Amino acid sequence: MSQQSTTFPLEFELTPSETARSSAERETILSDPGFGKHFTDHMVTIDWTVEAGWQNARVTPYGPLLLDPASSVLHYGQEIFEGMKAYRHADGSIWTFRPEKNAERLQSSARRLALPELPVADFIESIKQMIAVDGAWVPNAPETSLYLRPFMIANESFLGVRAAHKVGYYVIASPAGAYFTDGVAPVSIWLSTEYSRAGRGGTGAAKCGGNYAASLLPQREAYDNGCAQVLFLDGETGTHIDELGGMNVFFVHGTDTLVTPRLTGTILEGVTRDSIIQLARDRGMTVEERDVTVDEWRDGVASGRITEVFACGTAAVVTPIAQLKGVGFEIGSADAPAGEITMALRQELTDIQYGRLPDRHGWLMRLDAAAETEVTA
Ligand code: COI
Repeated sequence: MSQQSTTFPLEFELTPSETARSSAERETILSDPGFGKHFTDHMVTIDWTVEAGWQNARVTPYGPLLLDPASSVLHYGQEIFEGMKAYRHADGSIWTFRPEKNAERLQSSARRLALPELPVADFIESIKQMIAVDGAWVPNAPETSLYLRPFMIANESFLGVRAAHKVGYYVIASPAGAYFTDGVAPVSIWLSTEYSRAGRGGTGAAKCGGNYAASLLPQREAYDNGCAQVLFLDGETGTHIDELGGMNVFFVHGTDTLVTPRLTGTILEGVTRDSIIQLARDRGMTVEERDVTVDEWRDGVASGRITEVFACGTAAVVTPIAQLKGVGFEIGSADAPAGEITMALRQELTDIQYGRLPDRHGWLMRLDAAAETEVTA
């Protein structure tokens, strides 16, 4: 399977939108963006065929995809995606966070879903192209950003079950405020005991639509029980905590230890997860990546050893968890306040992302035109 571009790196052709929103319309949207509701004026597309590899990179007006009803993505779910953000700094410049991690994870998801790997340089260029044309859509209110959604689908018209010979890669962008409707307020989460999101040898570590589709029914159960997210246990033994429907989970023990489920191949390797581990170690905290059971959570909260629990992900950033609920039990209480360590880690991470603190790990990449090369704040 040819992974390489016909020209490397790819060159992008721009067709500007003739119906781009006015700056007044854009500012109205940016003043209250919500999450995932509004989209910018343009999108990126790159085609791939088994014969020609990556080709025909372009930035075009945002609009519907023309898909043959026999496109394999519609039947067999051969699809992967990423989530990342563009942040506006106080001087107006636009930056993103650890994009090479997203590029590499897209490649690893592609391997698992038998899709072609997009070279890291082309992935990063696709993000820069989006910002070059739609940079005005990066909001500047505190804690807002432009959420970037790169994704890849199998679009060959063929009903046989095999890896598609024709694929499309796209980037769309959506101005974003807080992921949860209550902002950074602590959330209750629901333990699904009937359903798992991943099994041994399955696609749990890949960021593919199927994992999220499988989470929707238990997610609905979570909503029905007044919870914001669903928590899954490992599929094999049903005892260890895996992850939430769309986020990783962390436990603070005392004031000096952070515990998070180890990466077993069924958990998504979150970029935020990895960054939180680094920031906690920088503070001198011990970080344990290991199995965590619901009993440990219950006993830890009862004894006072577990002092805080939080979720993290690109969309959710760091969100405090007040309570775990399940059939016939509750751990913690719905009105528990946000934990101090949770909020300090959140603050430090966002301070780095928004350029308010020095980027000591070299995590930021400048995206707007002023940057010819990577610059760190
Ligand atoms: C992200 O955090 O970027 C995701 O893709 C997860 C989804 C819940 C929005």
